[in-house]
Amino acid sequence: NRGPGGMNNRGMGGMMNHGIAPLLDSSQGINELSIPPVLEKQQGEEFDYEVTAQQGSTEFFEGIPTDTYGYNGDLLGPIIRLQQGESVDVKITNDLDEPTTFHWHGLEVPGDIDGGPHGEIEPGASQIITLEADQPAATLWYHPHVHEATAEQVFKGLSGMLLIDEPTDSGLPNDYGIDDIPLIFQDRLFDENLQLNYKRLMDIDGTMGDISMVNGTLDPKLTITEPVMRFRLLNGANARNYTFRLSNGASFTQIASDGGMLKEPVETDTLTLAASERAEILVDFSTMTEEQSLALIDDEGAELLPFDVELGDSPVDSAELRTADEPFLSEQERAMPVTKKIELFGMAEMVTINGKTFDMDRIDLRQERGVTEVWEVYNKPDMMGGMIHPFHIHGTQFKIISRDGKETAPNEQGLKDSVLVEPDERVKLLVTFPEKGIFVFHCHILEHEDNGMMGQVEVY
Ligand code: C2O
Ligand code: CU
Ligand code: CU
Repeated sequence: NRGPGGMNNRGMGGMMNHGIAPLLDSSQGINELSIPPVLEKQQGEEFDYEVTAQQGSTEFFEGIPTDTYGYNGDLLGPIIRLQQGESVDVKITNDLDEPTTFHWHGLEVPGDIDGGPHGEIEPGASQIITLEADQPAATLWYHPHVHEATAEQVFKGLSGMLLIDEPTDSGLPNDYGIDDIPLIFQDRLFDENLQLNYKRLMDIDGTMGDISMVNGTLDPKLTITEPVMRFRLLNGANARNYTFRLSNGASFTQIASDGGMLKEPVETDTLTLAASERAEILVDFSTMTEEQSLALIDDEGAELLPFDVELGDSPVDSAELRTADEPFLSEQERAMPVTKKIELFGMAEMVTINGKTFDMDRIDLRQERGVTEVWEVYNKPDMMGGMIHPFHIHGTQFKIISRDGKETAPNEQGLKDSVLVEPDERVKLLVTFPEKGIFVFHCHILEHEDNGMMGQVEVY
């Protein structure tokens, strides 16, 4: 754990930087990265899994307890692992002192169990729901979605990953915790008492911290024992955009986007994820020696995750990467007319979608279940130029048709549920809802969402 030295120069940083995006400090590489446990199936109960939102305490700084929230624990949550095609009963329980919801981000479930703002569970209450993994293998996640309190609950620690596994061996690294590693990136601000005092530290335009944590670990490092590693990256921050690189400039291979495998793997040396976006990458350590140092860094050079390479003599079995057999979009899909228009606008508390702020009792759009439509999302700039908004739709995995008329980049040629939209950019999406219900769509800067940058689509 971070010693007292770290506290002095870091604890107060966020308060002085309030309002602007503070820089992330480099990891000191002191703590071995925590790997979230895989949630175990219950035996002899009337449900398969149990997920409880609860209060806890985490020792981020030596000897100092910080109040946190977690699922089945003090901070973050276990990995929920579903087999493709599987259906499981999950008991969700709220042990907090305030209402919460359980939202399965990216999972195509019916509106009534999607855990959006309509799905509040009162303190002390439980519910048993059925989750069906009726979609391609993917790295998804779960988090609360309470009306006007999502940002605070996530900030205090409520987030976890939800994986859908392919029924057959894909040939990709899949030894969980060994060569298949979840990486949840979040930035945090602590007050002078080293508490996550959201109400005081929050920024109405998107809370950013100067301290980086990965899987809830401050100053993490990861020991690498296998030559080819699969990392499942989640930008779980309230607001920050991350651009990832390797410190030696080497390239890596992106294999998946939010909702599953890319049409073809993409070799790249940089990867940007806006809040809530995911990617799976393969990193080749086989030519590294123990003396060389390597880290995952951000675009300002801050070390987010240093690696300690300790390769045994495990053979390098090169993963069979899939190649495309059909085009990402058919001619017909490319030619479809726009039928829904979304205009994102504003900053801070003045954020709107199509000129309106969120109203739980208003249906903004309607779409028929199973019918594909083209949504055009436009990020309207303001006099200051505007800002990036990550746009997310519940209940669907969509495809990006184009950005400002330009063909979808290879690393976005896969299923998506969130899309980074630059100021003045116009993004066309191919959207199908496989289930009925009321679903929200919103900016995934959580403060913008809480401020009402959200609407509702009724799928009938
Ligand atoms: Cu990550 Cu509305 O959700
Ligand atoms: Cu979601
Ligand atoms: Cu926004």
